[in-house]
Amino acid sequence: MKQCTTIDSVRQARASYGKVGFVPTMGFLHEGHLSLVRRARAENDAVIVSIFVNPIQFGPNEDFESYPRDRERDLAMLAKEGVDLVFTPEASEFYPPDFATEIVVKGVANRLEGASRPGHFSGVATVVTKLFNIVQPQRAYFGQKDAQQCAVIRRFVEDLNIPVAITIVPTGREEDGLASSSRNVRLSAKERALAPGLYKALLGTRILFQSGERDRVILEARLKELLRQNDIPQPDYAVIVDPRTFEAVNPVTDNALALLAVPFSTVRLIDNLPLGME
Ligand code: PAF
Repeated sequence: MKQCTTIDSVRQARASYGKVGFVPTMGFLHEGHLSLVRRARAENDAVIVSIFVNPIQFGPNEDFESYPRDRERDLAMLAKEGVDLVFTPEASEFYPPDFATEIVVKGVANRLEGASRPGHFSGVATVVTKLFNIVQPQRAYFGQKDAQQCAVIRRFVEDLNIPVAITIVPTGREEDGLASSSRNVRLSAKERALAPGLYKALLGTRILFQSGERDRVILEARLKELLRQNDIPQPDYAVIVDPRTFEAVNPVTDNALALLAVPFSTVRLIDNLPLGME
């Protein structure tokens, strides 16, 4: 497995690959990331993974400094998966002092997670656009757990005619249902024991949907009630939305998503579930 730290060295190496599947990450890898890598491995001639904790997608009071990092462990995991190249850019080359461009997505990027974390999706859109231009993959892989991020990426890829096919891979979960996340390590033991309640609440809401309920207000009330029953802290939001626009849907359609964000003491968890899925 090749490791590149400069943009030129990625470009040079990439020129000798055929169809490239690309998995952008911020490292501290878990099973969720590995499922993206495995899918990319199965569908492409070569797999490139980036590891970069992107400073511009963190707000001033967010956890950029304390975001978990373990480069050696990440590299060992990726080598085992048969990854061809890992790109670990230096922030100083990626964002030189005169860097002045930002990709701003409107609409879907302003709602929910976008409203809770101003500037977050511009930071994501900007870094992903740069990475696509550097790596020039045919396909890129993202996890359904970050459903709104996926919708924002699909939006600007379509709007800007970026020639990369976006594949969304189902959320990786721990055995007890908690969505895999690099930030899970920061939950206290008590919070970790409660955290599977997010998934239980989503599953319970899906059962109500599948029994025929299509009223958004009733489904959202059920989602919130199940969170309370599972002793989950007050959510930032717990809503039923259209998966492309992230606007409220009523009546609730088969492709709708139940979506939530919950602040625990030092970490904020997000999760979602397509309601029409078995
Ligand atoms: O989902 C993530 O880990 C990040 O938002 C991404 C897509 C790698 C951009 O920094």
